[in-house]
Amino acid sequence: MGQPKKVVLAYSGGVDTSVCIPYLKKEYGIETVIAFAADLGQGDELELIRQKAIDAGASEALVGDLIKPFVEEFAFPAIRSNALYEGRYPLSTALARPLIARSLVELARELDADAVAHGCTGKGNDQVRFDVGIASLAPDLQVLTPAREWAMSREETIAYGERYGIPAPVSKKSPYSIDLNLLGRSIEAGALEDPMVAPPEEVFAMTSSIDNAPEHAEEIEIVFEGGNPVSMNGERLNPVPLISHANALAGKHGFGRLDIIENRVVGIKSREIYETPGLLLLILAHKELESLTLTSDVLRIKNQLERQWADLVYQGLWFSPLKDAIDSFIDRTQIYVNGLVRIRLHKGNATVIGRSSPSNSLYVPEMATYGSDDKFEHELAKGFIYIWGLPSRLWAGIQRK
Ligand code: ARG
Repeated sequence: MGQPKKVVLAYSGGVDTSVCIPYLKKEYGIETVIAFAADLGQGDELELIRQKAIDAGASEALVGDLIKPFVEEFAFPAIRSNALYEGRYPLSTALARPLIARSLVELARELDADAVAHGCTGKGNDQVRFDVGIASLAPDLQVLTPAREWAMSREETIAYGERYGIPAPVSKKSPYSIDLNLLGRSIEAGALEDPMVAPPEEVFAMTSSIDNAPEHAEEIEIVFEGGNPVSMNGERLNPVPLISHANALAGKHGFGRLDIIENRVVGIKSREIYETPGLLLLILAHKELESLTLTSDVLRIKNQLERQWADLVYQGLWFSPLKDAIDSFIDRTQIYVNGLVRIRLHKGNATVIGRSSPSNSLYVPEMATYGSDDKFEHELAKGFIYIWGLPSRLWAGIQRK
């Protein structure tokens, strides 16, 4: 591969990605750095970020509004998959990476760039997701990763930036490392590096504390069609406002905080604080509706594939044949997932209190009932149990001899 001249850089506005701009130019000899900032609903002032990139020496700074594809193509499939990495983390950060990777590749093609770049360090998951994502879409495209190679401490990075007119972060900067988007926030570092230190209230922004959550419970209803959430409390909403609404409702009641030890791809255990109120609420509701509308064998196999799906997404294999194949299975199951789930939100809890599916419920009242309209043929159970228990009975008889 030749010396790249024109590079598209994934740009967040933070110190690391800002320093990447002069660093790519001086140390890598790149002539043209094009900064790309993705709008994933994180609420940043993107015009300011664009200006920051230009001030740091970018030839061009572009903003991509990715909120809609983020929710429709990444968050909704995660809800359909009930995706929880290691049974707990709903992948709020991980889901954004393949989309950014895809956008970088598209831009590189469009602008005729010969490489893309990102500012991830060498010990995180995000580098894996970017590098593998990009490689899966454009195996020929070079990926430059200055922050993985420069071996500068935080202080050195800031000093390097100052030499090129990148202002040091404002003095009373938060000690935390935070990643955020419409789906949630991930908070690491600072005092949180001690797994015994309880997260201080100040790290949270989307969820209320239990103390401040309303005294009274609130009951909400979520409707799903084909496995996708389509309305809340009777109001039909497009995917993006639906997620915002779910965040607001669950967050208000203090639901959706996680404090976990997580196994990173690179083998490190890290202590992670997340708040992902809407996503966790929707997964809870979706899972409940599946238990009403899918058969037990499909549920069992889907559950195994869901774990695999979450692992693949966490580990950067969004664009992979296994992920595609699992998606086909999941999509096939979701045609039955239509109906309504009722949930009570109160003081950090979301509790399912009702579910219904006029078109797809497999709950048959005259089978389930203990009342007089019971249609289950009780006497047939005897023959079933005789055959079902036969191996056990034969085995027991032989052991006794
Ligand atoms: N551990 C989480 C994940 O891998 C969060 C990563 C946050 N990323 C960041 N650059 N701060 O999905």
